[in-house]
Amino acid sequence: MKNIISRSKVFSGKPIIPGDKSISHRGLILGALASGTSEVIDILEGEDVQSTAHCLRELGVEINSIGNKTFIKGIGDKGFKNPNKILDCGNSGTTMRVMMGVLAGRPVTATLTGDSSLVKRPMKRVSEPLLLMGANFKLTNENYAPLIVTGGIIYGIDYHLKIASAQIKTAIIMAAISAEGSTRIHGEIGSRDHTEKLLPHFGIDIKTTDKEIIISGGQSLKANTVKVPGDPSTAAFWIGAASIIPGATIDLDNISLNPTRIGFMNVLKRMGADIQMDILTTHPEPVGSIHVSFRGLVGTTISKDEIPSLIDEIPLIAVLATQATGITIIRGAEELRVKESDRLEAVATNLRAMGCEIEVFEDGFKIEGPQKLTGCEIQTFHDHRIAMAFSIAGLVADKETTIQNSECVAVSYPNFYETLAQLTKE
Ligand code: S3P
Repeated sequence: MKNIISRSKVFSGKPIIPGDKSISHRGLILGALASGTSEVIDILEGEDVQSTAHCLRELGVEINSIGNKTFIKGIGDKGFKNPNKILDCGNSGTTMRVMMGVLAGRPVTATLTGDSSLVKRPMKRVSEPLLLMGANFKLTNENYAPLIVTGGIIYGIDYHLKIASAQIKTAIIMAAISAEGSTRIHGEIGSRDHTEKLLPHFGIDIKTTDKEIIISGGQSLKANTVKVPGDPSTAAFWIGAASIIPGATIDLDNISLNPTRIGFMNVLKRMGADIQMDILTTHPEPVGSIHVSFRGLVGTTISKDEIPSLIDEIPLIAVLATQATGITIIRGAEELRVKESDRLEAVATNLRAMGCEIEVFEDGFKIEGPQKLTGCEIQTFHDHRIAMAFSIAGLVADKETTIQNSECVAVSYPNFYETLAQLTKE
């Protein structure tokens, strides 16, 4: 599928933002492990979350949806069934990595694989701490899927996390719950903290400070209800568009304003954007509304410690930086090279194709704006965030921008193009 985007003179509205991807995955997984039936309200209907549901069903978990409610009959003490099929995690890194942790300490054998992008992404970063806990993994070329996990008795560890990744952190936490003894995680633990926030809701005792996470093993989860707020990483595309299209305004309700997720909004404010965020509820996650009105942007420097809170928004920041006055520099973002695509390379290829200058580093980039964007054929590399970021670029470009393989947006935002059409209607 291709989508053609033209320069837009208008951008306004109040789109409904689909459910948060990270919380949706976790709601399903925690519900699957709990005793009793859990309910996830407003779950994201994207392909990534369906990959998690598919894996859990293969493991014997009953999942049914009625309207905006998803019911999960958890396994409780019963345990998973050995799957008859290979567990296909599709394009979803979160599914594969978190499931590795879930399965490590449970008596089941499973093979996990994924699409052509996922089988190229590193998995040793997850198997390594789990192996230290006593788990049993066999990875392709010691780092990749397809991989086989044979779960069994595992033990708590004291682990220094070297990469600020919520997927790795969550995998260790999920394994720790079923381990013997307690687990302590320290080091780079400042990534998104949805797992830590949701687990107490399911009856799990987990202690978190800004220095460490401590979980005692042998705990059981009890069913509960999770209401999924709108995904701030999805909302980011409309917030970004409203910040670069003169006269634009956008209103968003029911968005997760978890501090570990709003780095993008904070950086954009620093760049001069007119963004107002109001928290309406705080439990179990801060949720609220966002209002954005167009105001010109200036360049900024984004430091390494800010990266985890805006990791998925960096391709969009690159696009916005071309419209800002002055220099924008991002360093410490080497993780972008191992996302659904090499996002630093994908950003550079497409911005250059649009006529922009960008200096690319191993761990980031430098862009001096403002620069004129000229519409062209955009290669998405089948990466949803590249497709959406360059669709926003198309709204401020001369000539038409063609987004190739635009169907990849369905991973996190199936209605992206319908919503884009509504917001740009004159
Ligand atoms: C996610 C964590 C992030 C993020 C991904 C979702 C999660 O990955 O990029 O889209 O739900 O835990 P890392 O934890 O690998 O940075």
